[in-house]
Amino acid sequence: MSELENRSQGSGHGEGVAQTSTGSAESHGALGDTLAAREGRGEQGVSPQGPNPLGDPGLPVHRPRPTDVDPRAAKRAERQVAGMFVVSSLASIAFVLAYIFIPVDSTILGIGAQNVALGATAGVALFLIGIAAIQWAKKLMVDEEVVEERHDIQSSDADRAEALEMLRDGARESGLGRRTLIKLSIAPALGLLVLPVVVLLRDLGSLPKDDLKHTTWATGMRVVQDGTGKPIRAADIPVGSLINVQPASLYPTEAGKAYSGPTEGEVAGGEDLGVNASAKEYVQNTRARSSAILIRIEPGATTVAPDRATWNVGGVFCYSKICSHMGCPISLYEQQTHHLLCPCHQSVYDLADGGKIIFGPSARDMPQLPIMVDREGYLVAQSDFTEPVGPSFWERGRT
Ligand code: FES
Repeated sequence: MSELENRSQGSGHGEGVAQTSTGSAESHGALGDTLAAREGRGEQGVSPQGPNPLGDPGLPVHRPRPTDVDPRAAKRAERQVAGMFVVSSLASIAFVLAYIFIPVDSTILGIGAQNVALGATAGVALFLIGIAAIQWAKKLMVDEEVVEERHDIQSSDADRAEALEMLRDGARESGLGRRTLIKLSIAPALGLLVLPVVVLLRDLGSLPKDDLKHTTWATGMRVVQDGTGKPIRAADIPVGSLINVQPASLYPTEAGKAYSGPTEGEVAGGEDLGVNASAKEYVQNTRARSSAILIRIEPGATTVAPDRATWNVGGVFCYSKICSHMGCPISLYEQQTHHLLCPCHQSVYDLADGGKIIFGPSARDMPQLPIMVDREGYLVAQSDFTEPVGPSFWERGRT
């Protein structure tokens, strides 16, 4: 019997809470059988502490390692580990020698020779210590299987009774049972505490009402170039091109004149926003919701719904520029396919087919603005968009 076997069998774990399992195959098999019998392997067992709800946990029978049963194998493993420690020591010494004796500017294959030597020796020294430690643990350190019994998670009856008694004491000492006035007044005091929180929600601003359903586009409003405010004729738009446009109300009447913002009167007239907006905010909000694109599609390439037959002017279509997914502005137009691609989440709309959504996360088609020409031949809106533009919102309908 090896020293390890002696140690394991004399460790005193055999009968109680823990089992030491190093030993001969036979003795270990006997131990496994003893455990199986005690734990009720294959059926619901009964341990000395009471019924074992797990029965057989399915652990394989422990097998001793060669180094546990063969002293020569153990000696061989010991020599391997010691050898690695010795080589690691030599590598550490070599590291110091390399640092002292290899000139800093010498090279090997164009690389600093000293760096190579230092890296290699330090690497070997550390690597061998690691491997030796693993070998030592796997082959030579004591190989034990220990059973650890868990105590009940539930508190003892005495602790639970004590906790309940403390709660009752608290209630008794507060006098709540006898103080009827306090009992009646504390509930509204605590309940009404939420009111200030609700009232503060008012600071989020006024309700949008139906502002989200409308833009500033209106019957007869000219379609002008974004940036310059120049009105556009249908003939000015080449087939395949896309132009960013805005309603003329955002621009001064004299085309080309620098925009200086709406007057106070215009802001007052723009109360459709439903907010007390400054002139700048008014313009930004109006521009954000009214942004549109004009495209011209070659004849015969479009699919126009009967109720939209009069919404285009000779193949010139006007669509909202605001993605109906989460509101990104879009200008990525592919003239061969007539697809409009949103760069944010890749929604794709077919502008030759009423702005239908054909790919991506958006759940709605791109709204189309009905357009016509005025007496001077400029493009104007027939009306506002017939449905809300931009991202969906919970009250969104088609009106
Ligand atoms: S905002 Fe356009 S796809 Fe999401």
